[in-house]
Amino acid sequence: MSLTPNLQSFIDIKYYNSYTSFKIIFNKRLFMSDEKLYIVLMGLPARGKSTLAVRLRDAFQKSSISARIFNNGNLRRIYGTLDETARSEFYSPENSAAVELREGFARMNMQKAKAYLQNSGRIAILDATNAERKRRAAIEKYLNDHPLLFIECVNDDEDILTLSIQEKIKLPEFAHLKDRAAKEFLKRIDYYRMIYTPLKPERNYIRIDSLQNMIIEEKHSDVIPFYERLRDTLVTDEVKNLFLIRHTQTEYNVAGRIGGDSPLTKKGRAQAKALGRFFTRRKISYIFTSRRIRTIDTAKAICEMQNDCRIISLKEFDEINAGICERMTYEDIEKNLPHVFKKRGADKYHYVYPGGESYETMKSRITQGIKKAFFLNRRASNIMIVGHQAVNRMILSHFLYRREDDVPYIYVPQDRFYHIVSTHNKKLFELKRYD
Ligand code: F6P
Repeated sequence: MSLTPNLQSFIDIKYYNSYTSFKIIFNKRLFMSDEKLYIVLMGLPARGKSTLAVRLRDAFQKSSISARIFNNGNLRRIYGTLDETARSEFYSPENSAAVELREGFARMNMQKAKAYLQNSGRIAILDATNAERKRRAAIEKYLNDHPLLFIECVNDDEDILTLSIQEKIKLPEFAHLKDRAAKEFLKRIDYYRMIYTPLKPERNYIRIDSLQNMIIEEKHSDVIPFYERLRDTLVTDEVKNLFLIRHTQTEYNVAGRIGGDSPLTKKGRAQAKALGRFFTRRKISYIFTSRRIRTIDTAKAICEMQNDCRIISLKEFDEINAGICERMTYEDIEKNLPHVFKKRGADKYHYVYPGGESYETMKSRITQGIKKAFFLNRRASNIMIVGHQAVNRMILSHFLYRREDDVPYIYVPQDRFYHIVSTHNKKLFELKRYD
């Protein structure tokens, strides 16, 4: 049976049977101020490595453990010429001059990381693709004065890749490539794929699904300091500020019709503007919506009042599909489809509309939407979702446990929004007015 590193360190402790020695050794093991660690990230471009690096650094710093990131891309941007390094050819394994240059940046960061831990630093995070086994062997050999843990970020969701690339190519370094930027970036990924070998012979590693925040596989040959804190950071969905808004009033809302793709009313447009004014006090970089006009138009009014804001419409946030009942009023359903009305009323969470969905069947797509939004929102501390009544109920229940029977009745008004915080130290659920 393999033991987790921390359990292993506990067993080391157990051998001392007098209380005093136990205490001394225990303190030494877990609170030794000279315990240090190299974390080396690995993964293809656009897999969430840099976001993870920042998350780890911030989490350690919050616990008063000094941590610093050493990013090869930053050195490339400082010392390379952007014109050259943004092009895919720079990443070709055949381009020996560029390979030499990139290996040089990697060595430079290895030296910096080593010097950092030789001084006051406790955790050095090396952020690069580190796709090749040869590079990783060199890292393990050179950084041999403290334990070293590789973390591989895996994520092959096509939508996420496309959206991530769209975001990346907005960076100034890609500006000169214009329409070709996305293609060049995809080609860069292909070049990395050619030399990519997953982690295996390395002494210590964790492979994570960086979209799901889930550990896929891990191997430990050494005791890894700060392991619990690290693992916790890897698997916890931290929500700094989630603003969960329901689209404002639509023509269908006034008519009492469900589903469809109806536009906002005059009142709805005024409500959206009020939301926009309210949120000028917050920096919102991305607003996630469904693909329906009503969420997009609500988001547009908010975006227009921000400095630099983008709307990302995800199919996962489309309103519950009411199947044969789409565009009907509840009265129509009761009158014309009484069996549907009765059955849904009896078990609203599980009832599947003929040709449509139930709350229960929406669950996996809503969870996927939340994961996507959090992945794409990256390091921004505010995240905004403009959704629908049933969608927002499901999002709320993702963060705050509710009995299934209660979920379809959660209050989701149009003149207020939910502010959600769910971090290590803070939990907050607040329903707030915006005008
Ligand atoms: O009425 C607005 C709406 O968003 C509909 O499109 C959707 O079918 C409904 O709310 C979901 O709420 P409930 O599950 O209570 O019918």
